[in-house]
Amino acid sequence: LKHLLSVEALSDQEVMGLVRRGQEFKRGAKWTPEKDQYFATNLFFENSTRTHKSFEVAEKKLGLEVIEFDAGHSSVQKGETLYDTVLTMSALGVDVAVIRHGDENYYDQLIQSKTIHCAIVNGGDGSGQHPSQCLLDLMTIHEEFGHFDGLKVAIVGDITHSRVAKSNMQMLKRLGAEVFFSGPAQWYDPSFDVYGQYVPLDELVSQVDVMMMLRVQHERHQAKDEENFTKERYHQQYGLTVERAKKMKKTAIIMHPAPVNRDVELADSLVEGLQSRIVTQMTNGVYVRMAILEAILAGRA
Ligand code: CP
Repeated sequence: LKHLLSVEALSDQEVMGLVRRGQEFKRGAKWTPEKDQYFATNLFFENSTRTHKSFEVAEKKLGLEVIEFDAGHSSVQKGETLYDTVLTMSALGVDVAVIRHGDENYYDQLIQSKTIHCAIVNGGDGSGQHPSQCLLDLMTIHEEFGHFDGLKVAIVGDITHSRVAKSNMQMLKRLGAEVFFSGPAQWYDPSFDVYGQYVPLDELVSQVDVMMMLRVQHERHQAKDEENFTKERYHQQYGLTVERAKKMKKTAIIMHPAPVNRDVELADSLVEGLQSRIVTQMTNGVYVRMAILEAILAGRA
């Protein structure tokens, strides 16, 4: 693997290879590096807790040297561009840069450069893609059910602004799952119809194996997007309330990429409840990110 920019660029075999390797790392597998020293850096230009810190844990578990970077105390504050920041890291000898940035496809210019030599891992590009989140979600579903074929997965909420949803709907369909959508009509785009069917939440909740709830992304909304919504109203109309959760199959699981707006996308008491896999998702993020980094560094030895 040269870079990880989007999941669609991966074959089904590559996706399943990363998922299974993540599961092996979780069971205690070790990486045998081909070089004594690899350098990684995490360049986050948008806020993050899980992605940033689980990449850092993954890098440290693999024994990489992690070069700290804080955009707020870097030369970005003097006007240095993303391109020149990554060029600098590459010139310093960094092997892999994990980047989160607000611009969709920010990586195009970086991977076309003849002078930037570090691998790029996309930690989220605007409302574009979030491939490592998709892979950790797939790992969590596979760990639970052992397959994807015929599983019914509901993706619910702020779909148009969610890079997680876009990565997941494509991969889940490719791997044989049946995808359904629900949530506010203004956060649904007809282009999603090729991946699954829109169904009102109350018809969907008893049918599915996975309830994947999405965060309401206030930071990407304009005032008109949130007209008519209070937190309570959103929760009652589109959220996984305790009453709705009682209608779920006993074998079904609840997922959310987090951070969770408790009592908005789902009831507070469900977040750490028996059917929730939200904490497991966070844990699995470390292991699948180890698999991603290993696959990239193996190609650079
Ligand atoms: N799920 C996720 O991407 O969380 P962070 O924004 O905290 O990284």
